[in-house]
Order: sequence, then structure tokens, then C-alpha cells
Amino acid sequence: MELTETIEQIQQEARAAVLGAADLGALEEVRVKYLGRNGTLRQQYKQLGTLAQEDRPLAGQALNKAISTLERLMEGRKSALAEQAEQQKLQAEALDVTLPGRVPAIGHQHPLLATMEEMIEIFLGLGFMVAEGPEVEDYHHSFEALNYPEYHPAMDEQDTFYVSDQVLLRSQTSTVQIRVMEQQEPPVRIIAPGRCYRRDTVDATHCHTFYQLEGLLVDKGITFADLKGTLEIFARQVFGDRCHVRFRPDFFPFTEPSAEIALSCTLCDGSGCRVCSGTGYLEVGGSGQVDPNVLAGVGYDTEKYTGYAFGVGIERFAMLRHGIDDIRLFYSGDMRFLEQF
Ligand code: DAH
Repeated sequence: MELTETIEQIQQEARAAVLGAADLGALEEVRVKYLGRNGTLRQQYKQLGTLAQEDRPLAGQALNKAISTLERLMEGRKSALAEQAEQQKLQAEALDVTLPGRVPAIGHQHPLLATMEEMIEIFLGLGFMVAEGPEVEDYHHSFEALNYPEYHPAMDEQDTFYVSDQVLLRSQTSTVQIRVMEQQEPPVRIIAPGRCYRRDTVDATHCHTFYQLEGLLVDKGITFADLKGTLEIFARQVFGDRCHVRFRPDFFPFTEPSAEIALSCTLCDGSGCRVCSGTGYLEVGGSGQVDPNVLAGVGYDTEKYTGYAFGVGIERFAMLRHGIDDIRLFYSGDMRFLEQF
């Protein structure tokens, strides 16, 4: 076969291969096969030597032309394939801007904290200031300064977790009364919301960790009537005008006289229901006139000053407010419960 025919044939074959290359990789293979240093077309230069002298220029020209034609064809195919690859990539990455965005999960206040803040708001409105004290307390502020005689049975219900003989987790926010009075002279008008601990067995109404809100007012001429009036206003603001406060004699070492605080059940209006265990009232805490021993202990003049104090359980209010019947739910971390508020 004439060399020019062979060249023509290879060129046809290469042309078909270039146009048939499905991607850039395949095209490169075609290039190596025909145009590479040992490629079929380039190999034909060697054949030129076998031709008669006068035939060489024509065959040489034909070979050069075949190679440059193929090169151009290959360039064209290469950019077409590159374009196609780019399109495919874009399509794969396609961003649908009409899709709704991912809404981040936004949390909200825990029902216990929300109740606490609402209670604080009411007392701020009545002129009280918020005070704080340590949760890890000493024996003195927990009991001694609160007029508990050593080994007194009233300490039984305040049993708590001890760090050492003298250091313990506070079992009541009443400790903050002492902390505040040590720091300032009367008049004192504070509330102390905060976490308390007790060695209680956990059940539907008890937890080893819980919250109280303490109140203390010391000034000239403060009487039990002031305490009653303040707590009545507070109860009405929380549970509405129908709610009233019941005081019954109680005992706390740091108040004299002392009174248990109970609120009329607003769910049944006092007729008795499941929430108030049929009694019509709900116990929420303790209160009383501050015992002069406590005032004297912090150096206050007991001839000049009197005061009242109270302490209520915050969980109790949150449970009544939302109709929750198990205190453990507050600490369960169960989102199904929490998301309801
Ligand atoms: N601290 C008491 C308790 O946890 C409640 C209490 C009673 C607080 C009388 C007071 C008070 O401030 O005067 O059981």
C-alpha cells in the first residue's frame, strides 16, 4: 500500500477515535496512541526513508498535514469534553435556592427558672432586692446563726450532704438571711432565690436538689401583719385574686412565732381536688417573725428592730402553675416534657 494511503487510513481511524472519546481520559489515550512519540502516525516518519527520493516531499507533506489536522481536531474535542465535564460537575453540585432553610433549634427558659423569675419580678415590684449566698455553706450559717440548738430535732428535716463536719450543701436559703445581715445594717428588704440540697429520698414531691425563695424584711415596727399582707399580695399576683393565704402555727428555730404558709387551691377553689389532696389548700413554705436571738446574733439592736422572714419552694409554685404532678420531671432533661412550656 502506498504510504499516503496508509497515512490517510490511519488518519480516518484516529479521527473516529477522537470523536468517539467519551471523556478527557479516553481522549488522552487516543492522543498517545496516534500522536505520541511512538504513536502510529508519528511512526510513519520512519517509513519516509523507504520511499524513492522524489516521492518523499509529497508523502512528508501529507504526513505533516495529517498530524496537524488531527491535533486541531483533538484540541476541539478536548475543550468540548472539558466543557461537558464542567457542566456535569455544576449539575451535581446544584444548589436549590428555593429549598426552605434549616431552622436552628432555639431553646427557651426552663419552666422552673421561668417561675422563679416571675416570683422575683413580683417581689422586686414590692421593693425587695435580690441577694445571693453560697450553696456550699458552713455549719454556723446553716444552723448556729439560725438559732438551732446543737442536736435539736428540727435539724433532722434539714439533713444534707456534708463536705466535712463544718462544711455542707445548704438545705435552705435561710442561710442567706444571716449572710446579708452580717454585711449591712437595717433596714433589710431582700429575697434570696436559689438552689438547696437535702438528703431526701427522691419521689414525686421530693428531690435531693431543689429551689427555694427566701424573703427577709427587718426594720423598725415590722409586725406579723406586714408578713401576712405581703404574702397575700404575692399569692394574688401569682394565682389571681381568688387566691388567699392560710397561716397555721408551725415551728422554726429562727422565727417566733412561726407559721406554715398554705395557699387556697385555685384549681378547685378550695372544695378539694387531686392537686390539693382534697384539702383545698397547698402548703408552699414557712414563715414567721424573726427570732430576736437571730437578730442579736448578727449584732442588730433587738429593741429597735423587728422583722419577718419566709421561705417557699419554687418547684411547688411551678407545679401548681402548670399542673405538674411529679417534681422529677423538672430534672429529667426530657425534651418531650420541656418542649411543652
Ligand atoms: N427554711 C425553711 C425550710 O426550708 C422555710 C422557712 C421557714 C423559711 C420560716 C423562713 C422562715 O424564712 O421564716 O423549711
